[in-house]
Amino acid sequence: MHKKQVLIVFYSFTRQTKLMLNKFIEGLESEGIEVTMQRLVPVSPYDFPFKSYGGLIKATIETFFQIRSEIKPIDEKCYGNWDRVIIAGPTWSYHPSSPVLEFLDRYGRDVCGGQHVIPFISCRAYWRVHNWGLRRRLKKCGAGVIGAPIVFTHLIREPWRTIGLIMQMRGKMVRKEENSWFRKRYPGYGHNREQRTVALEKGRQLARELFDRP
Ligand SMILES: Cc1cc2nc3c(=O)[nH]c(=O)nc-3n(C[C@H](O)[C@H](O)[C@H](O)COP(=O)(O)O)c2cc1C
Repeated sequence: MHKKQVLIVFYSFTRQTKLMLNKFIEGLESEGIEVTMQRLVPVSPYDFPFKSYGGLIKATIETFFQIRSEIKPIDEKCYGNWDRVIIAGPTWSYHPSSPVLEFLDRYGRDVCGGQHVIPFISCRAYWRVHNWGLRRRLKKCGAGVIGAPIVFTHLIREPWRTIGLIMQMRGKMVRKEENSWFRKRYPGYGHNREQRTVALEKGRQLARELFDRP
């Protein structure tokens, strides 16, 4: 049988997309899918954590206006015919992250044109505008965007989810084991263990779809 092949183009700033992708890939590979990865590497990345609140606010404004950040050239291996292409990354100020936008500007038509693409999103909460913008751009590149996006949000109640995100961005998180008042409301930044299991199952599910198995 023809080996099924999936290309995953991804950017991850604080490793949350990558953590979910790791399990997703485990699911794909456990069902016999061959996965090729392309990491997007900004030439001048933002500092993580941000050195000041001013720096974080500046990044939020820049990303709201979708200012691109130059990325290093992608690998030749990306050009080809894939059973699926996954475009993965975080939501930044309601939009795809700057490295993903830059990828679509520079390589979108050549890598995604004529391919079936699935958006894969990691965010605190708000992914719909991101998904809509990404789909619109992908369609412009000649890609077929099929099915629902794969989305992971931070499953913590507000306002703790937002406060925790801001603290994490500034490198001000108290240690995980600390039994503080805040910790009880904010067990930790990002996605949780159960979501990793969901990501694994999503990978298996896509693999079965590609082999057309129930
Ligand atoms: C500059 C910046 C802007 C962000 N804007 C949003 C946003 O508009 N909506 C949202 O739900 N999350 C937003 N986030 C949170 C990230 O999407 C979230 O933390 C995600 O899980 C990070 O994934 P990563 O670790 O792969 O980069 C923002 C994060 C940063 C750094």
